[in-house]
Amino acid sequence: MSARKKAQVTWGGRFNAGPAELMLQFGESVSFDHRLWAQDIRGSQAHATMLAKVGILTAKERDAILRGLTAIGQEIAAGKFKWSRELEDVHMNIESALTARVPAAAKLHTARSRNDQVATDVRLWIKDQCAVIDAGLVALLQALVKLAAANQDVLVPGYTHLQRAQPVSVAHHLLAYVEMFSRDRKRVAAAADSANWCPLGSGAIAGTTLPIHRATTAKLLGFVDAKGKPRVTTNSMDAVADRDPATEFCFAAALCGVHLSRLAEDMILWSSAEFGFARMPDEFSTGSSLMPQKRNPDSMELLRGKSARFQASLTHLLTLTKGLPLTYNRDLQDDKPPLFDAADQWQLALAVTTATMSGVTFNKARCLAAASDPALLATDLADWLVVKGMPFRQAHHAVGRLVAVAEKLNKPLNKLSDGEAQSADAAFTQGWQSVFDLQRAFAARENDGMPGPKSVAREIARWQKSLR
Ligand code: ARG
Repeated sequence: MSARKKAQVTWGGRFNAGPAELMLQFGESVSFDHRLWAQDIRGSQAHATMLAKVGILTAKERDAILRGLTAIGQEIAAGKFKWSRELEDVHMNIESALTARVPAAAKLHTARSRNDQVATDVRLWIKDQCAVIDAGLVALLQALVKLAAANQDVLVPGYTHLQRAQPVSVAHHLLAYVEMFSRDRKRVAAAADSANWCPLGSGAIAGTTLPIHRATTAKLLGFVDAKGKPRVTTNSMDAVADRDPATEFCFAAALCGVHLSRLAEDMILWSSAEFGFARMPDEFSTGSSLMPQKRNPDSMELLRGKSARFQASLTHLLTLTKGLPLTYNRDLQDDKPPLFDAADQWQLALAVTTATMSGVTFNKARCLAAASDPALLATDLADWLVVKGMPFRQAHHAVGRLVAVAEKLNKPLNKLSDGEAQSADAAFTQGWQSVFDLQRAFAARENDGMPGPKSVAREIARWQKSLR
């Protein structure tokens, strides 16, 4: 059979000529949607099982179809299946291979359209991917918590406006990312939940006149709620037009990408000579072909770059669907490349971050030297005045004047004499320098969410327990 004739098998009844070569080239999606083969086979097997249950297929026909699909799946998995561009997409490739070996396969597409079929396949695929991504996030969280636990006593300046602000610990800093990535897990779960409705039975747009049993198909495919109750989509038009699950998945990827990118940026800064707080592992750094001394944090830079790519996928899907009239439009075929790319790069990015962070070491002395800048405790000194009864606004000014005196005398804040301090404000009575003891400063920050060592240890224990 010629390629042009072959392409007519599925829908060619009303056509005299097959599509132009250029149209085949432009319209095919099998070059990328072949990745949905496992989901497509699962979907067809569930559909055939349901069709037999309602009497549209005989048990014999059903069994022949199930066996045929299993055999095709094995061929595909072994790399022996011949994908044909002329057959346009994954659905028609598999169906036509099945029809070639099982006559009853001509009945498989009863009460089904590629519109509800592709919606089902993509939802199944998203659910599978969410499980993989969640495992990747858990591994990253565990690595970060481990790194935090090992560096509880490493003190660093915390920054606002990239200016030294107040002292924190490396552990507290890392746990900030633990918060972000655990929120990402919730967004992944939400995307999986959004995908967890079975569109099969919606047909092309308006369902079917045949007596199908949608709950059976949904159950067979695992589209069920926490109690095992089947979840079927509740509007046939929405079901074939909806690409929210893919968009939500890409949104979760884009936001997680932002978190990964911020972590990457912190590590890039921290591993620079200017900061010198961290050393990235050899395995995830590269040298320069020209400058022998270079040690570049490439994995982190690539990570920062990937976040643009995740945002591109999200923007792609938002733009693809905006302004599309209901219901299915062929534009929607192009939802897959951005979705697949987001999933692939997300998995990789999580694995690389986990591996890189697992090998990061901190230069404790360098960190401590930076954290010991007495100016970082200027706010603590204002608090000291507040305890003595001064309103905070006034205390802020008094310490501001003290900082100015120190700057003028070119002395560190804590090395001013009592007399010099009192020239800024008479309230700097004896003992004001005690504020500059770092241990004391941390011990005073043990309230919920604060960087005090006990508070951070509590958080580490909480995460260790919840990530087990
Ligand atoms: N390959 C198509 C896609 O992914 C399948 C649906 C085709 N439906 C249609 N009416 N042409 O969108």
